Amino acid sequence: MTKILTMDDFNFKNKTALVRVDFNSPIDLQTKEILEDTRIKAHGKTTIEELAQKGAKIVVLAHQGRPGEPDFIPLEQHAEILAKILKRPVKYVDDLLGSKAKKAIRNLKNSEILILENVRTHPKERKKGTPNDHAETDFVRSLAPLADVFVNDAFSVAHRSHISIVGFTAVLPSVAGRIMEKELRALSRALEAPEKPCVYILGGAKADDALRISRYVLDNEIADHVLTGGVAGHMFLAAKDINLGKPNMEFLERKELMGFVPGIKELLKHYPTQIKTPLDIAVNEDGKRREITIKELPTKYPIFDIGSKTIQMYCDIIRNAQSLVISGPLGVFEDRKFMKGTKEILEAMGESKAFSLVGGGHTVAAVEQLELEKKMGYISTAGGALIEFLMGETLPGVAALEAAAKRHT
Ligand code: 3PG
Repeated sequence: MTKILTMDDFNFKNKTALVRVDFNSPIDLQTKEILEDTRIKAHGKTTIEELAQKGAKIVVLAHQGRPGEPDFIPLEQHAEILAKILKRPVKYVDDLLGSKAKKAIRNLKNSEILILENVRTHPKERKKGTPNDHAETDFVRSLAPLADVFVNDAFSVAHRSHISIVGFTAVLPSVAGRIMEKELRALSRALEAPEKPCVYILGGAKADDALRISRYVLDNEIADHVLTGGVAGHMFLAAKDINLGKPNMEFLERKELMGFVPGIKELLKHYPTQIKTPLDIAVNEDGKRREITIKELPTKYPIFDIGSKTIQMYCDIIRNAQSLVISGPLGVFEDRKFMKGTKEILEAMGESKAFSLVGGGHTVAAVEQLELEKKMGYISTAGGALIEFLMGETLPGVAALEAAAKRHT
């Protein structure tokens, strides 16, 4: 794991902590109400509660949505939900850097929690920059003098070099919060020297991510097998020159995925036995599930799931693994008839003694729907950040914590 400081390395009593969390939640676009509070609960019950118990004055920085998008709303509701979760009062101020925000921070007493306005109301928040560049902004210059320490708990935003993610690390002692620490520990377990055999299961609709992750984990001898499904699986089949049939080939064209075929072909050439593609698939034949083998392709129906023979082959590989990573469902699991592939693969992961890591919004939703949460080794709350991490990218938010740790040790 990377060398960063954690909340064990700082005495928070009487100190003002600027805490960056990821409260970004699904919103009902009509009523603007928060639909799901997983992330608020995760940060609240760990990092924020611990800071309150340690007597810190807690100033929460967070974002919701992106400017111009319908889920870009203030954080008032988030404050109300956090207060209910923690059974503690949570203050909210509709200001980020102005006199109202500054006054509210100065008035905080030990263990009190204050949420500032959505950080993305700052016009430069999402501008990419280095910690030193961002330290010069009015955002950091206004808030840093009021704080003693920066706690970055937002692993799921660590792939962004935004002001609120990296700027404060240049000027304040900076530590990882508990969620950041947990995510990094679990993810490192799946990426740095995982127990072998290590199997990556890549599904979902983001075939470009599946290609880049497969390449990284195979080239670096991290994974022994990559099992493909979902649209990613279709792409790998298409790269084997298999005609999937009109609706499926048109779908890949429409989503501009065919451009990845040459890269996948190259990868398949290098790793013909390590990469597994479906042996059979389930098509949506006018609302009914029908399984056909790959030899029976092309089909005039859309492919919605992997078939039973594939499930059996994948489950055999999963049973022999010591480390398992899944990102993306294997089919259209939202439709009960096509849930089989995703369900049986996730159940096999749950039954396995291997360390299993689950990531990606849809996959996590499937695990929750199947009530398999307790059977998994680790469920990541991250989306884009997790994908970049699994591709071996350096995450600016983590690199900034590492640089800060070097300075303060
Ligand atoms: C997420 O939901 O993945 C994070 O909150 C990051 O959001 P962003 O993609 O808008 O930066």
